[in-house]
Amino acid sequence: MDAINGTSATSATLTIGDQSWELPIRQGTIGPEVVDIGKLYGQTGLFTYDPGFTSTASCESSITYIDGDEGVLLYRGYPIEQLAESGDFLETCYLLLYGELPTAAQKADFDYRVTRHTMVHEQMSRFFHGFRRDAHPMAVLVASVGALSAFYHDSIDIADPQQRMIASIRMIAKIPTLAAMAYKYSIGQPFVYPKNDLDYASNFLRMCFSVPCEDYKVNPILSRAIDRIFILHADHEQNASTSTVRLAGSSGANPFACIAAGIACLWGPAHGGANEAALKMLGEIGSVERIPEYIKRAKDKNDPFRLMGFGHRVYKNYDPRAKIMQKTCHEVLGELGIKDDPLLDIAVELERIALQDEYFVERKLYPNIDFYSGITLRALGFPTSMFTVLFALARTVGWIGQWKEMIEDPGQRIGRPRQLYTGAPQRDYVPIARRK
Ligand code: SDX
Repeated sequence: MDAINGTSATSATLTIGDQSWELPIRQGTIGPEVVDIGKLYGQTGLFTYDPGFTSTASCESSITYIDGDEGVLLYRGYPIEQLAESGDFLETCYLLLYGELPTAAQKADFDYRVTRHTMVHEQMSRFFHGFRRDAHPMAVLVASVGALSAFYHDSIDIADPQQRMIASIRMIAKIPTLAAMAYKYSIGQPFVYPKNDLDYASNFLRMCFSVPCEDYKVNPILSRAIDRIFILHADHEQNASTSTVRLAGSSGANPFACIAAGIACLWGPAHGGANEAALKMLGEIGSVERIPEYIKRAKDKNDPFRLMGFGHRVYKNYDPRAKIMQKTCHEVLGELGIKDDPLLDIAVELERIALQDEYFVERKLYPNIDFYSGITLRALGFPTSMFTVLFALARTVGWIGQWKEMIEDPGQRIGRPRQLYTGAPQRDYVPIARRK
């Protein structure tokens, strides 16, 4: 390659033996350029090899930009810090879906449209009763979102832009209702219907925490906090679950089935399951005195233990979302009068020690969004089993926005990666009588 990192080179030269090929270099608006290898196999008979996709751009997108070295996160060009500070979650949803911040009239219309899709089909409540009460809420959410396909499969012509937008609105509107139903079912309480006179975050808190026998008053500080937490989790470029949604969608699958696939992928502890795992880890550490023992384990290659909520494939600096999450954590604990949360004390001390330790500094391992979210969500009243459900709730807009962008890409084709085959060469069948 005759130039890297942002010079104006227009192609890269691949030379193997006495043969050379020119591979086009493409520039985006900001961030790394790409070497287009779309024709490489046809020209050379070679595949590229990049398990984990550490150096692979899987698509072109204009939704979210991350600069991992600088700790920058932009949604449609707007810094996450400004969106989290000034807007609300449905404004971010509009921005991610349409590409621009809404005017007051557009925002009012969007809020109205989302609010009037928050109910789910009444038969959906019977679907939940097939689960044991102790089923993990993520298992219930994967299933119930997939089941939306059964209710809307025939009313989604994904080739029709209008129907794609309706499916997007339906998904954003119904995911809080299904998430709250998964929680209520797990604690044996009756489902609570959405109320159209409440904002998105307040509606969700009421569907989770109100009971028929008394009035429920939404605490505006807490609903603002959960609304901001949703903004922080809304989208994050081509992460594992978003790539799952894109790959599922590339076959033309129903958008609800694609979102269910994204939820399944998010559940893993290396991804969205890390918030639940991080809180469990803080509980297992148990005291500030035991932190050195766990730091040692995290550095021990023979020990599978890792610091949950630490490290990131892209961020080699502090995850900007983690800073806002830490601030929100203090706000929520303050509003609830929780003076000293022992787990928060452990988290703050663990961060302080890790960020001074050469192992973490050398590998640029910083707290990520999951490090403080668990403490905040627990203080808000959610059990750890609901933490990844809340992550999925917020990320649904990112998934559906990326799905829509993929479907609307004129160059869109089914995703079908190849492999480096290291299995047996061709050999003939041996009848069982002759096998040794
Ligand atoms: C999310 O992709 C996204 O954008 C995801 C996300 C989103 O919004 O969608 O940001 C949400 O998933 C955040 C990440 C949540 N996961 C965790 O907190 C789990 C703990 N973190 C690690 O499992 C890990 O850091 C990953 C999975 C997040 C990243 O893994 P990578 O990029 O494959 O990095 P790696 O495993 O190659 O680690 C590089 C080195 C290794 O050491 P060496 O082999 O170089 O000696 O860093 C070490 C790792 O052992 N390392 C850790 C560590 N994370 C990485 N060591 C101890 N504790 C950790 N947490």
